[in-house]
Amino acid sequence: MQVIPAGVADLPRNVNKGTDKWRFVDFRDWTSGFWPGTLWYLFEATGNPQWKAAAERFTSQLAPLSRMKAIDHDLGFQVFNSYGNGYRLTGDPEYKATILRTADTLATLFNPAVGTILSWPRPVPNMEWPQHNTIMDNMINLELLFWASKNGGSKRLYDIAVSHAETTMKNHFRPDYTSYHVVVYDRNSGKKIKAVTHQGYADDSMWARGQSWAIYGFTMCYRETRKPEFLDFVQKVADVYLDRLPADLVPYWDFNAPGIPNEPRDASAAAITASALLELSTYVTDPAKAKNYRKKATRMLAELSSSRYLSNGENSAFLLHSTGHKPNGTEIDASINYADYYFIEALLRLKKLDAGKPLPAPL
Ligand code: GLY
Repeated sequence: MQVIPAGVADLPRNVNKGTDKWRFVDFRDWTSGFWPGTLWYLFEATGNPQWKAAAERFTSQLAPLSRMKAIDHDLGFQVFNSYGNGYRLTGDPEYKATILRTADTLATLFNPAVGTILSWPRPVPNMEWPQHNTIMDNMINLELLFWASKNGGSKRLYDIAVSHAETTMKNHFRPDYTSYHVVVYDRNSGKKIKAVTHQGYADDSMWARGQSWAIYGFTMCYRETRKPEFLDFVQKVADVYLDRLPADLVPYWDFNAPGIPNEPRDASAAAITASALLELSTYVTDPAKAKNYRKKATRMLAELSSSRYLSNGENSAFLLHSTGHKPNGTEIDASINYADYYFIEALLRLKKLDAGKPLPAPL
């Protein structure tokens, strides 16, 4: 049996409503890469070595993930946001080696009979373990595989990422391009057993962050593959999200939550989507559409930067009003590290675009 070493729990994850204190996690938590990633972005934004030193210190805490068996699919969130940004900004060869090892670890979860990565390699309620589950969030972790395949890793990593994205495109969406959170597959035949939710309101509802992961993930897949089917598809996935947003462009935690407008918002979904739309706006060929994506993303960032969403000293996070896991009763109307990470990423992207620079910085 694998023994997972416990780490120092000093990576900030969230500030729950009613407190101004961070809750800390260790490297095993799925959000462990966002705090070091945010520090790397702050170093990128300012050039201040204080941010670099802090980023290096917190990044190094995630090193065990590259040497142990995969706990789940979140290795991209964890290691690419920390070591990946660190390598992009420093070129440290140790960082590169860590990323490459982690990509190989993520690839161990790929099931060729299904064509996707197993997101949760353990029993999770309603997931029919030991059958194969894949969650929409898993799309983001493909970036680690794409990067590794072109930086000294196996070409197979690219094939796995493309297979995962294509299989997800086929099985994870309703005819109106809204996304299911989870699809459960027969692990031997690859047949789809069912599509359900885990963090959304209902199996057939549009969980806001899930749709945001889809917009971000398929935009990234187009960048990495230049396959036109991803570009065509992601615009449909983005458009249904944009069409159903409330006036301030920050979604309720689930677009079908029954108590709207008295439901919590999810600022993290807005930050993820804003960052994705800025990138998508550089790929779409219709100039009017490109302009609209950039305009909407800019308005989302303006709203998040307003006193309605900015923490402004209420606590030391950047953003208020994200929702992590409403059905579980956790992280509701909270500050969460991934909202901050994608908010800063999106602001940096906007700054680059406004300066006429390409997105994202080539790795
Ligand atoms: N990956 C889990 C979430 O988006 O909450």
